[in-house]
Amino acid sequence: MDNGTILVVGGAGYIGSHTVRALADAGRRVLVLDNLSEGHREAVTRCPLITADIHDCAALNKVFTEHTISAVMHFSAFAYVGESVANPQKYYHNNVSSTLNLLSAMLSYGVKYFIFSSSCATYGNPQYTPIDETHPQSPINPYGATKFMVERIVADYHNAYGLNYMCLRYFNAAGAHPDGATGESHRVETHLIPLILKTFTGENQQIQIFGNDYDTPDGTCVRDYIHVCDLADAHIAALSALLAGAESCCVNLGTGKGVSVKKMISACEEVVGKKAPVVAAPRRAGDPSILTASNALAFQTLGWKPRYTDIREIIATAWNWEQHRRY
Ligand SMILES: NC(=O)c1ccc[n+]([C@@H]2O[C@H](COP(=O)([O-])OP(=O)(O)OC[C@H]3O[C@@H](n4cnc5c(N)ncnc54)[C@H](O)[C@@H]3O)[C@@H](O)[C@H]2O)c1
Repeated sequence: MDNGTILVVGGAGYIGSHTVRALADAGRRVLVLDNLSEGHREAVTRCPLITADIHDCAALNKVFTEHTISAVMHFSAFAYVGESVANPQKYYHNNVSSTLNLLSAMLSYGVKYFIFSSSCATYGNPQYTPIDETHPQSPINPYGATKFMVERIVADYHNAYGLNYMCLRYFNAAGAHPDGATGESHRVETHLIPLILKTFTGENQQIQIFGNDYDTPDGTCVRDYIHVCDLADAHIAALSALLAGAESCCVNLGTGKGVSVKKMISACEEVVGKKAPVVAAPRRAGDPSILTASNALAFQTLGWKPRYTDIREIIATAWNWEQHRRY
C-alpha cells in the first residue's frame, strides 16, 4: 500500500468526515484541510485538522511542503441549490476557482491522484432513469454547473498533465455512522430525512411536501438515497483503484432504488413510531420528478455495492444520530 498521506479537503463536513474515518480504518495516513465554514471540528477525531481555506495559496504550499501527499480527496464546496441560484458568484468562486487553486498546488508538487465529489445535479432534468454515466449532462442550476465545470477541468488536466482522477457523482447522501459518533449537521438543513426527523424532536413544526402531482406512483418526487458510509466505502475503493492504475473516470454512486417523499415520510414514521405533521406545498422550480442512479459502472470499476439497501436501516442510523448528536 502507498504510505503517503491522503489530503482530505472538506474533511470536517458530512461526507468528508465519514470518509476520513473509513480511510483511518483502512490504515491510511490522513490529513484534513477545512475552513470550517460548514464543517465541524468535532467531526475530525482520527487525524490532524488544518483550518484553512483552499483559496489560501500559502496554506496549500505549506501543506504540500510539509507532508508527502499521495492523493487528494476534494469534498469542499457550497451545496445549497437555491442559494446558488440567488448568489451564483459565491458558488463559482468557492466551487470552481478554489478548485483551480487546489489543482495548481497539486501540479506544482507532483501529486497525480484526485478524487472529486461530483453530483447527480450535473445531469439536470433526466431524459431517462435510472441515470447512467453516458446520460447527457445539462445542469439546470449554478450549483450543478460548478460540479460539471470541475469535471471538465479535471478531464482536461488529465489529458494535458496526466492527472489521474475519479469524479464520483453522488445521488442523495443520507444516514449517519452506525456508532452515532458522526452524522449530518448542516448550517441550513435542506435534506429530507433530517427535516422529517426534526419534526419528531420538535425542532421543526411540520414537513412540507413540495408538489404532489408529479408523474410518479404517488405524485411526489422520487430520489435515490445512498448511505454516507457506503459513499465513504466507495472513496476507499476509488482510491485503491486509482493508485493501482485504474483508468480515470466518472462514476455514479446511488443504490439504484427510488424512494418518494411520501414513502420516506411513512418509513421515518415506522422507524420512529410517531406521526409526522405534513403539509402540502407548491412544486419547487427545478425539481425533477425522478432521480435514480444506475450503479452498474461503480460495481464494474470499483467492485463497489451499497451495503445499506433498505431505507429503514438508513433512517435508523440518522435517527440515532438526531437523538444524540454531538455537533
Ligand atoms: N450531501 C449530498 O447529498 C451531496 C450530493 C452530491 C454531491 N455532494 C457534494 O459532496 C461534497 C460534500 O458534501 P457534504 O454534504 O459533506 O457538504 P458539507 O458542507 O458538510 O462539507 C463540505 C466541507 O467543505 C468545507 N469547505 C467549504 N468551502 C471550503 C473552502 N473554500 N476551503 C476549505 N474548506 C471548505 C466546509 O467547511 C465543509 O466542512 C460537496 O462537494 C457536495 O457538493 C453532496
